[in-house]
Amino acid sequence: MVRRQGDALDRLIEVVSPGTARTVLDCSCGIGTQALGLAAYGYSVTATDLSPDAVERARREATALDVTSAFGVADFRRLEDEVEGQFDVVLSCDNSVAHLLTDDDLRLAANSMHSKVRPGGLLLSIRDYDALLAERPRATPVQVYDGPDGEGQRAVFQVWEWEPDGRTYVMHQFILNQEGDDWRTTHLTTQLRAIPREDLTGILHEASFTDIAWHMPKDCGYYQPVVTARDLTRLPWNRVPDNGSVSATCAYRGRDKKRVGFGRPITTCI
Ligand SMILES: C[S@@+](CC[C@H](N)C(=O)[O-])C[C@H]1O[C@@H](n2cnc3c(N)ncnc32)[C@H](O)[C@@H]1O
Repeated sequence: MVRRQGDALDRLIEVVSPGTARTVLDCSCGIGTQALGLAAYGYSVTATDLSPDAVERARREATALDVTSAFGVADFRRLEDEVEGQFDVVLSCDNSVAHLLTDDDLRLAANSMHSKVRPGGLLLSIRDYDALLAERPRATPVQVYDGPDGEGQRAVFQVWEWEPDGRTYVMHQFILNQEGDDWRTTHLTTQLRAIPREDLTGILHEASFTDIAWHMPKDCGYYQPVVTARDLTRLPWNRVPDNGSVSATCAYRGRDKKRVGFGRPITTCI
């Protein structure tokens, strides 16, 4: 999974920053799924997250994969105060911005991410909420994995309790681990907001991002819709389009970089 996500994101980085991006801030790194994939591609990655436990786990995974990354705890609504420097690319994947339940918080995050991108780009991935809002599903299908080293199977599914506003939902994540003849259940819960793509586009535009484009999984190879954005006003040799956005069509070029350090796979963050 780390390798697959690193591949797809490397191609998307080429879209926002052709041939030039070197430094990446993953500001919701969780256990490091994207950060470590990109570090293995040779990017200089700084990986931060609100959760100290997640950052600690990402640090351990980096050691296990033998890749190098800088780590820190930071709120992606306050990156100016909590993370030093600027980056060619800022990214936040795997539906992390859906943790923000209000437009005000989403605006804070967009402005804070904008402050950290030097000419280069932003990549955010969210669930396909345009489709999900039409259906408002109550659960996800069960996924079953083999545990590492013959440790038994693991089954994972989610139950979604939609709030009366029809836009936010409580996500119950169930993880069932086979232990001999028994199954141990872990239940985690969090509240999320289903953000339509148009709303996120508007908020990025308000935060002075331009060149905003959506890339769907079937085209870009990443498992969730990804929005890319830049701030062309910071590129003196470019003219900003009047409406601040461009069409979503683009080429996904492969890169000839050497990947390093993939030992064992790590599991996804929940
Ligand atoms: C679904 S996980 C994805 C983690 C990681 N990108 C991955 O795929 O492994 C969402 C992450 O967003 C982080 N998060 C939520 N709110 C945040 C905030 N305000 N600032 C930074 N991280 C946040 C959570 O701690 C969690 O690690």
